[in-house]
Amino acid sequence: MLELTDVTKEYRVGEQTVRALDGISLRIEAGEFTAIVGPSGSGKSTLLHLLGALDSPDSGSIRFQDKEIGDLDDDRQSEFRRHRVGFVFQFFNLLPTLTAWENVAIPKLLDGTGLRKAKPRALELLDLVGLSERADHRPAELSGGQMQRVAVARALIMDPPLILADEPTGNLDSKTGASILQLLADITEEGNSVVMVTHDMGAVRYCDRVINLRDGQIGSIDRVARGDDGEVRAVPESGRNGSTPDDAAAGSAADDAGAVHA
Ligand SMILES: Nc1ncnc2c1ncn2[C@@H]1O[C@H](COP(=O)(O)OP(=O)(O)OP(=O)(O)O)[C@@H](O)[C@H]1O
Ligand SMILES: [Mg+2]
Repeated sequence: MLELTDVTKEYRVGEQTVRALDGISLRIEAGEFTAIVGPSGSGKSTLLHLLGALDSPDSGSIRFQDKEIGDLDDDRQSEFRRHRVGFVFQFFNLLPTLTAWENVAIPKLLDGTGLRKAKPRALELLDLVGLSERADHRPAELSGGQMQRVAVARALIMDPPLILADEPTGNLDSKTGASILQLLADITEEGNSVVMVTHDMGAVRYCDRVINLRDGQIGSIDRVARGDDGEVRAVPESGRNGSTPDDAAAGSAADDAGAVHA
């Protein structure tokens, strides 16, 4: 569905150049729940922004459903952002003066649908995330987990094939976080893809794949395997910059692959 080839991204601050992403190649398939993990500053958020066309790469290719995103004109790029991608941010980004259902409906308003017309779907989605009884509450009258669930519902209202989430459980206690992770996992069962940045190794058990970033490069990619006993294991899919599992096992990426204890 989404394919990156040799993507680089640099930031220039004064005299200094930071290479945030350094030759990233990967594919995101439909219906997959992918985690992006790695140390602070390794390029996770930068990668997520490029996946959602919130920013563009300095070199390399990003193709969505076989179309180069960078080749789309401005209108098509904003169409991509509005209809193809749903964002869930770490700090929810809800508008404080609007109620829960109005917050969920915002993407529809931006797309020219009236508030009243958008309401039934907004209420349906609040029901899906278990918040139908809080539809008329404002963000200040909700708990952190409830706010994040509103943010997930908002990300879903345009029915985008791709959901991008930057530390969606970063500000939640573990039980509330688990309910958000289960919700995201359920969404991928419907065929949508979810790509989630997380610091939480416990979150990995909900995912299908784990991309380990190191200094703007892919350290390794693991597939999350579930045994008959329900035990979760990480199986190396590829090592540094797309080498095969055998290469990875033989090379320096073996340590990286072992780093994920799902
Ligand atoms: N707007 C910017 N201007 C300059 N440098 C930036 C900018 N955004 C990110 N960087 C740099 O690019 C690198 C990657 O940043 P990024 O935000 O992608 O990291 P991250 O993996 O998301 O980290 P964290 O876990 O702390 O959120 C870092 O070295 C950061 O300092
Ligand atoms: Mg980040």
